[in-house]
Amino acid sequence: MKSKKPPTVSATQLKALFGAARKAAKKSYSPYSKFKVGAALQLSNGEIVSGTNVESVSYGLTLCAERSALVSAVARFGPKLRIRAVAVANLNNGASPPCGACLQMLSEFIELTAPVVFPVVDGLRTMTFTELLPQAFGIKLK
Ligand code: THU
Repeated sequence: MKSKKPPTVSATQLKALFGAARKAAKKSYSPYSKFKVGAALQLSNGEIVSGTNVESVSYGLTLCAERSALVSAVARFGPKLRIRAVAVANLNNGASPPCGACLQMLSEFIELTAPVVFPVVDGLRTMTFTELLPQAFGIKLK
């Protein structure tokens, strides 16, 4: 019988994804917070797309690394892309789980069971997307 479950992402792939997130963090534009964040998305088409946080002097306009990666991915691969895994890194040795706004935006593109790896105070933590955001906002027009 064919399984409907998406193939799981291996530990090696997650490690590579985290490396891509760290690399992206080096490009951060964060003159106000000095907090350099990178995010990398493993797509179901095998590609990795990364992004970094881009701050604004009008602080509230700041774009997080995760949403930066997401908009790059959609610009490159179009609206049908699916995300199999996410990695977040920062160069400040701080904890940085993805924020609520980023989780909400990712929710329209990501597999519910996708692993999300991110820094915590004492290392890295991996949780599934649905553990991080059990109930995303959604609308049904019909
Ligand atoms: N930031 C991210 O890039 N991702 C998050 O999930 C939360 C915070 C950025 C925004 C800002 O540039 C800096 O981290 C400090 O909040």
